[in-house]
Amino acid sequence: MDLKVSPAKQVRGSVRTAGDKSVSHRYAMLAGIAEGTSEFENFSTSADCASTLGCMEALGATVRRNGNHVEVEGVEGALQAPARELDCGNSGSTMRMLSGVVAAQPFTSTMIGDASLSKRPMRRVIEPLEKMGARIDSHGGCAPLTIQGAKLRAMEYTPPVASAQVKSCVLLAGLFADGETTVNEPVRTRDHTELALRAFGGEVRRDGNRVSVNGGQRLRALKAYVPGDLSSVTFFLCAASIFPGSNLVVDAVLLNPTRSVVLDVLSGMGLKVNFLKVDEQYGELVGTMQAEGGVFQGGTIRGEQSAALIDELPAIAAIAPYSVRGVEIRDAAELRVKESDRISAVVQNLRAMGAEVEEFPDGMRVPGGQKLHGARVESFDDHRIAMAFAVSALRAEGDTTIGGAEAVAVSFPEFFEALQKVVEQ
Ligand code: S3P
Repeated sequence: MDLKVSPAKQVRGSVRTAGDKSVSHRYAMLAGIAEGTSEFENFSTSADCASTLGCMEALGATVRRNGNHVEVEGVEGALQAPARELDCGNSGSTMRMLSGVVAAQPFTSTMIGDASLSKRPMRRVIEPLEKMGARIDSHGGCAPLTIQGAKLRAMEYTPPVASAQVKSCVLLAGLFADGETTVNEPVRTRDHTELALRAFGGEVRRDGNRVSVNGGQRLRALKAYVPGDLSSVTFFLCAASIFPGSNLVVDAVLLNPTRSVVLDVLSGMGLKVNFLKVDEQYGELVGTMQAEGGVFQGGTIRGEQSAALIDELPAIAAIAPYSVRGVEIRDAAELRVKESDRISAVVQNLRAMGAEVEEFPDGMRVPGGQKLHGARVESFDDHRIAMAFAVSALRAEGDTTIGGAEAVAVSFPEFFEALQKVVEQ
């Protein structure tokens, strides 16, 4: 589907998004394993989380859904052999995290995904799960994965990549293993799995970057509100960043410190962010904030910051030409193995809009002070690329057409309506 985005004069209004995708995935998986019926308000409306719910159903959980309200009746640890393949759709989180759960079951499961997911690297979960005792057949390290579950051995593991999905996969497998499983994180990544496990009554120990769980724990159902998705809100904050005088109020959004690095970075680049109210729900911070555009300065993002901002980098890169000093992104080679090669996708779209940009294997450099023109850009079937360029198009001269705009449904089906609401043309 092609979608046209016209330039805007200002960005103003309020933003509220459905529940965070990362948190919703974990709540759905743990609810499926737990004892009793869990209930979630503001559950993610993303296609990705629908994939997770579908997989949990195939594994024996009962799922009832009415819009954002989701109920999951758990199986008390006794998952059933799926009668069909576990279809993870476009969702890397579903495949990588759930592989840890099915690897520990006394049956064989086959996990499949769409064309994009079938190209993404899965050795990062195959290797630790095989070390724990599972047998996994793959297509050269990619999906489909046929996982022969086994009684797993607990282990201590240091993932070679900074990945919350890999950490979560090993911890979830550890819930079913003999003894204590520990993950040593090379860089601290989002900690939703740890917080969610505690919310479901589980025990998780953290000592610096070492996270441990014991096998054989029983989880109990949870009733929770899922805080709004901060990675989705980022597109609006980027829009506010490039319009001096813009004003957005964002309600009930996730403010977990392992995710909110984007707020520090955008503030450092010129966005004024005020927190109006912050609460804690099951270990997750949730709050209301107000953001006001100043002068968008730009800057450099590298090292651990790149890992912490991995989902937000496309949006920041897409608005980089409008900055004063330009933006340089390094140490972000992981972007190349996301839903698309996000470095190449951003570079191609920026060039289509007339921008100068230098591509590196691990990032890019975008000079500041550039004027872009509307053009045809592509989503590359990647939700975050479609949304990033809808935002960039707001400051271009002339209309921009986004090819494959329907990709936004993977994380944020209501994105274009929500954007329309805050844009003044
Ligand atoms: C996620 C972790 C990140 C992120 C993805 C969601 C999660 O992936 O890019 O969108 O929910 O754990 P990696 O673990 O591969 O970095």
